[in-house]
Amino acid sequence: MLLVTTAAELRAHLDAVRRDGGRVGLVPTMGFLHDGHVSLMAASVADNDCTVVTIFVNPLQFAPTEDLAAYPRDLDRDRERCEEAGVDLVFAPSVEEMYPAPVQTTVTVDGITATMEGASRPTHFAGVATVVAKLFALAGPCRAYFGEKDFQQLAVVATMARDLSFPVEVVGCPIVREADGLALSSRNAYLTEEERAAAPVLHEALEAGAAAVRDGERDPEEVRALVAATIRAEPRAELDYVAVVDAGTLEPVDPLRGEVRLLAAARFGRARLLDNVGVSLPAGG
Ligand code: PAF
Repeated sequence: MLLVTTAAELRAHLDAVRRDGGRVGLVPTMGFLHDGHVSLMAASVADNDCTVVTIFVNPLQFAPTEDLAAYPRDLDRDRERCEEAGVDLVFAPSVEEMYPAPVQTTVTVDGITATMEGASRPTHFAGVATVVAKLFALAGPCRAYFGEKDFQQLAVVATMARDLSFPVEVVGCPIVREADGLALSSRNAYLTEEERAAAPVLHEALEAGAAAVRDGERDPEEVRALVAATIRAEPRAELDYVAVVDAGTLEPVDPLRGEVRLLAAARFGRARLLDNVGVSLPAGG
């Protein structure tokens, strides 16, 4: 496995792969890799001739008040995890390498960024879309892999790739969870012992909402209120939002029908955690 830190090295290696007819799979990450990331790597290794993992804590997607400086980093351990997963190339650039000049061009995705994470973190998705567009341009992948834990991010990236005609298939991979249901996230490292014990309430609440839908509830507001009340009942959780939307458009759907997604975000001490679950209903309700 190769580790490169410059765009020129990345391009040179991947040009050679493509010249030989190889397909490149891209797994963009911010490092501090966990089993959720490993599942993305495994999907890429299975589908492509060359898998590239990028490790870059992207300053553009953090607001000044957020955790950019504190974001956990461990490049040595990340390299080991990539090597074990059969990754061919790790690209770990510096901020100066990715943004050599003051950024004057950014990518903004309208519509689906207006709610949920986009409403709570107004500059976040422009930062994500910009860095992912740059990584697509640098790596030229056939496929790129993103976790469904960041469900809205996955939709934003897929929309950006479609709208800007990037010749890349955006592949969403299922959430990987701890035994008690907590979705894996690098930010789980911020949790104290007590917060870690409380955090599975996010998944429990979403599952309670999904069960109500499966049992026949079709009013999105009733489902939303049930999920919110379950999270609020946990004193260590500070609820940000609960949304019950169409899984394809992320728009409200009332009465509930088709592919429905329940999403929530809550803060547990320093950690702001996201989770979501899906329910499939007949298209007519
Ligand atoms: O999900 C993440 O880790 C980041 O938002 C991503 C997609 C790597 C862009 O920086």
